[in-house]
Amino acid sequence: TKKLLVLTGGGDCPGLNAVIRGIVKRASREGNWEVIGSIEAFNGVLNTPQRLMKLNGETTAGIHVKGGTILKTTNKGNPFEYAVENESGEVVVTDRSDELVKKIKELGVEAVINIGGDGSQRISQQLFEMGLNIVGVPKTIDNDLSATDFTFGFRTAVQIATDSFDKLVTTAESHHRVMIMEVMGRNAGWIALHTAMAGGAEVCLIPEIPYDIDKVVQRINERYEDGRGFVNIVIAEGAKPKDGTVTAEESDEVGYGNLRLRGVAFVLSEQLKKAGCKADIREMVLGHTQRGGTPIAFDRILATMFGVKAFEMVLNKEYGKMTSYRNNKITSVNIKEAISTYNLVDKNSFMVEAARGI
Ligand code: F6P
Repeated sequence: TKKLLVLTGGGDCPGLNAVIRGIVKRASREGNWEVIGSIEAFNGVLNTPQRLMKLNGETTAGIHVKGGTILKTTNKGNPFEYAVENESGEVVVTDRSDELVKKIKELGVEAVINIGGDGSQRISQQLFEMGLNIVGVPKTIDNDLSATDFTFGFRTAVQIATDSFDKLVTTAESHHRVMIMEVMGRNAGWIALHTAMAGGAEVCLIPEIPYDIDKVVQRINERYEDGRGFVNIVIAEGAKPKDGTVTAEESDEVGYGNLRLRGVAFVLSEQLKKAGCKADIREMVLGHTQRGGTPIAFDRILATMFGVKAFEMVLNKEYGKMTSYRNNKITSVNIKEAISTYNLVDKNSFMVEAARGI
C-alpha cells in the first residue's frame, strides 16, 4: 500500500469535509492507498507525540454535510516560520521545514494533499521546491483567487449573508432605520457585492471602490425623501473612504486596515453622523457565522470534485499543482501561478454597473 497525507490549513471554510471525503472515496477505489490526516495542519506531523488520524469510509462517513474540518486547522503552523512563545513570553520564530520533510518521509508518505488558502498554498509551493510530492486544493470564502473561477465556501458565505440581510430589511423597514451590515472578504468585495445584489441593498461599499461619504448620505436622504424611509447598507470589511477620513482614534479602536479586528460598520456609522446623516442607524458585524455551518449543495459538489481531482492528480504525479474550477470544468493549475495573482472586483464590470442601478 501507498500512503497519502491530507491536511487542512488556514481559516476554516464550509466544504473542507466534503473535500476530505472526496479524496477518501476516490482513493478507496484504487484499493492500495492508505489515507492519513494530519491534525491541525502540519502540526499533527511536527508535534511530539504526533497527531494523525486514519481517514477511511468509517471516519469520513457523512462528513460532507458538516461545516468546519474534522482535521482541525490553524493559522499558526507555518513550518518555514514556526512561532513559539518561550518561558519569558517572547515569540521565537524558527524554520522547521527540513524537520517536517524528514518526518513526512519517515512516515513513508508518497504524497501530500494540502487543502488551504493562499497562505497554505505558498507553503505547498515552498515544500514542493524542497522535493515534496504535494498537491493543493484552494479554499477561501473570499473568492479572491484568480487561478480558479470559484472556490467552495464562497457561495455558502453569500447565502448566509443574504439570509441575515433579509432579516435586517424587515426591521429597518419597521423602524425607518439605516442598517449597516459588515461582511467578510479581506481585500475583496465579492461577498459584499453578491449579497447586496441578492438582497437588494441601497448602498454597497467595497474595497475596490473607495467610498465618498457625502454620496452615501445623499443616497440615504433620497430614500427618506422619496418616502421609502429606510436604507440597508452592505459594507465589506476592507472598504475604505476615498479621502481617508478615518481618524487615528477610529483606526485604533477598530483596527482599521487590520482585518483581524472587525468593525468598519461602526466606523461608517460615525462617519455618517459626522457628515450630517440624521437617520437612526444600527450596525451589525456578521463575522464568523459566514464561515460556519452546513455548506450549500453547490459548495459540497465543488468540494467533492476538488477532492476526487486532487487524488487523481496524485495518481498522475501532477505535483506542485492545485485543483481549479475554470469555465465550468475541473482542471489543475500550477500553484506558483495561483499564488501570484488575486481576483478583485473590477469596478468597470457588468456586475458593478448592474448593482448601481438596483
Ligand atoms: O480569508 C477568510 C477570512 O474569513 C476573511 O474573510 C477574514 O478577513 C479572515 O479570514 C478572518 O480571519 P480569522 O478567522 O483569523 O479572524
